[in-house]
Amino acid sequence: MDGRELVRAVAEIGTARGRRAWRAALRHRRTDAEGLPPRGPERARVPGLLEGTEPRPGGGVLRFARSELTVRVVVGGAVFWGWDGAAAEPSYAVLGGGPEPDPRAVLEPDTGGGWRVVSERVTVAVSRHGAVEVRTPGGAVLRRELPPRWWDPVEGAAPGGSRWLQRAEVPADARFFGLGGRARGPRLRDGEYRLWNTDPKGGFGPGTDPLYITMPVQVVVADAGTHLAFYDNTWDGRVVLREGEEGAGSGADRPGSSELRLEGGPPRCWVLPGTPARVAQGWAGLTGSPAVPPEWALGYQHARWGFGGEAEVRRVVAGYAERGLALSAVHLDIDHYDGHRVFTVDREAFPDLPGLAGELGGAGVRLVSIVDPAVKAGDAVHASGLEVGPHGAFVRDGKGREVRGEVWPGECAYPDFTDPAVREWWGGLYGERLAQGFSGFWHDMNEPVSFAPWGDATLPRSARHVLEGAGGDHREGHNVYALGMARAGWEGLVRLRPGERPFLFSRSGWAGMQRYGGTWSGDVESSWEGLRASLALVLGLGLCGVPYSGPDVGGFGGSPSPELYLRWLELAAYLPLFRTHSAIWAGRREPWEFGPEVAEGAARVLAERERLRPYFVTLSHLARRTGAPYVRPVWWGAPEDRRLRDCEDAFLLGDALLVAPVLECGADRRAVRLPRGRWYDTATGAAHEGPGQVLLDAPLGRAPVLARAGSVLPVRRGDGSVGLEAWAPARGRTGGGVVVRDPGPGFEAGEVERYTVRWAAEAVVVEDEGGAVVSGVEVRGV
Ligand code: GLC
Repeated sequence: MDGRELVRAVAEIGTARGRRAWRAALRHRRTDAEGLPPRGPERARVPGLLEGTEPRPGGGVLRFARSELTVRVVVGGAVFWGWDGAAAEPSYAVLGGGPEPDPRAVLEPDTGGGWRVVSERVTVAVSRHGAVEVRTPGGAVLRRELPPRWWDPVEGAAPGGSRWLQRAEVPADARFFGLGGRARGPRLRDGEYRLWNTDPKGGFGPGTDPLYITMPVQVVVADAGTHLAFYDNTWDGRVVLREGEEGAGSGADRPGSSELRLEGGPPRCWVLPGTPARVAQGWAGLTGSPAVPPEWALGYQHARWGFGGEAEVRRVVAGYAERGLALSAVHLDIDHYDGHRVFTVDREAFPDLPGLAGELGGAGVRLVSIVDPAVKAGDAVHASGLEVGPHGAFVRDGKGREVRGEVWPGECAYPDFTDPAVREWWGGLYGERLAQGFSGFWHDMNEPVSFAPWGDATLPRSARHVLEGAGGDHREGHNVYALGMARAGWEGLVRLRPGERPFLFSRSGWAGMQRYGGTWSGDVESSWEGLRASLALVLGLGLCGVPYSGPDVGGFGGSPSPELYLRWLELAAYLPLFRTHSAIWAGRREPWEFGPEVAEGAARVLAERERLRPYFVTLSHLARRTGAPYVRPVWWGAPEDRRLRDCEDAFLLGDALLVAPVLECGADRRAVRLPRGRWYDTATGAAHEGPGQVLLDAPLGRAPVLARAGSVLPVRRGDGSVGLEAWAPARGRTGGGVVVRDPGPGFEAGEVERYTVRWAAEAVVVEDEGGAVVSGVEVRGV
């Protein structure tokens, strides 16, 4: 325990919850002391020399003196490798074991006693010591995995497998991204990153790591190409990243490196090479397409911990309505529960929730409910969970006793979401929420959290999980706890309301969570650093396949200055989840609480989001079809432009827009790095040619947004209809865009409309797929 922790731990003894948290933490320590035998003597192992090979579809099995390696190239060009017999299945992330093996990939001898698998899109070379190299068809090395190292127990086998270490090298010019949601991103600089979903307790800033969503997913961008590497393993681990250096030392390049240490689990990995767009598509193919949120979830939303009651909800909603500000949803936090207990309602403060929901619904405002996983010991939900299966729904320790932790309602039990029967039971509980009139669900505290005055605020590592029947402990189950909860909620909602796409977002999660919904920043601090971190999170998560997210506008726990609040709103208006939220102790977040200048600026920002909402709808459908996140790093279309790789303060929204939020206090202009091509400043119409950098005005209330020449995007017109906006291509060039309109609340895919834009004499015309000129298009940039 460090000094700060000690002070906090002592202070917490002063409250009843604090004392219970102390007791829970002591209990968890005891549980682990009994249930997790100390590691005995271990012996290090490496694969040894290659002794034989056996071709298999897509590649083969390579036998080494002390391990064996499976290599497989699948249709689409992704590579799977697994040591010690690790197969692609079972997996919490990868669907159905991944795509079929590429029938044309062949295993053949390589130089130096190694072997290689050659396919159209990728070559995998395995050295006779067990280094695995992924190369482009042209022979450029994207990633070189050195032979792994294991630490095997001298006696017996470790439950869940031995600890292992995997070092990889990437080109000297490469940049790392991903690893889930990292406050320090999106470019992951040298340092250690933990793979253990964690509630940072009381908010986080850029220096906090890890956060709620960790994933062993790296996106690596280099001159040689882009690739994604996914070590499909849920165990606790650490990654040390080090960027390379060109011409280091004696003029030779020093490669970048990734050193991964895992506490157990299968040594296996997927590598997806290609352009960023191809990688994203491959990743969605492997782990599932992102859920499309309902159309209303792409509008502006207001959350608050501490509405206190129906009257305050009405007051806030009326505040938006009176000012003509669009509001899509209001989120109710744990204070609307009875005694903070999930799936209950405080009937004094909220005597008629269905009535309130109906009234707000009439005005186009949906209600969203927080859902915490921990169930108060002894309450009705707990009792119903005890009836599930032969042992009840809750996580137990090695001796079969229910593991109890401390959360908002007091002493709690934890549903084991790695048990299919528990997921089914939990999913059914959302019926109560639907009956109360809720339309969306906000999963929280699902790392999972058990308050602890010191150490790890989660379940004991020895706690048991069903893990789909395989059985294991919390070291393996922890990181997929929230993923299981999201699946339970999603599948339950689909059963309960088969005609509606659920709206679900979750604080914690893992690779594959996009199948069930999105996420949000969690308790980002109310500071300029927090503002930056919230962009880093959205970008990093998008690259890991989770495209729908956004921050608590204004930060969670503090009182942002009017300037910071408005800058935050300006940024979030261009992020998929556009929501303000704050702690019960934090300052106000209604746009009109910060004085007339902010109110006016906020009104413009909210109106612009409404105008762009059809574009967000298009992007949500494109994310499902292609895996491409709505919000993309500026290098997305030009990863070979090294300056773009290092640009962290701007982003692309789809293909058409480049957003350059103001992230610095006091700034009223900012430099914007442009990818190649012509870009129009949407505020002034001025054209700028990329690649390069321009200095743009950014007065408070307006972040610079640029439109790509030749783009076509759908916008909402003043009369509520959806129209097209087109930006003139450069002379002699053409452009275009796709539009997907909201197909309604169900699961229909929506039709893809394709438009082209070109110069015809002195005019810019937009044509549909049939070549017919589209009328009523707002053409800009001429
Ligand atoms: C957690 C959540 C936050 C929520 C609070 C109370 O801190 O991250 O969004 O308001 O719990 O439920």
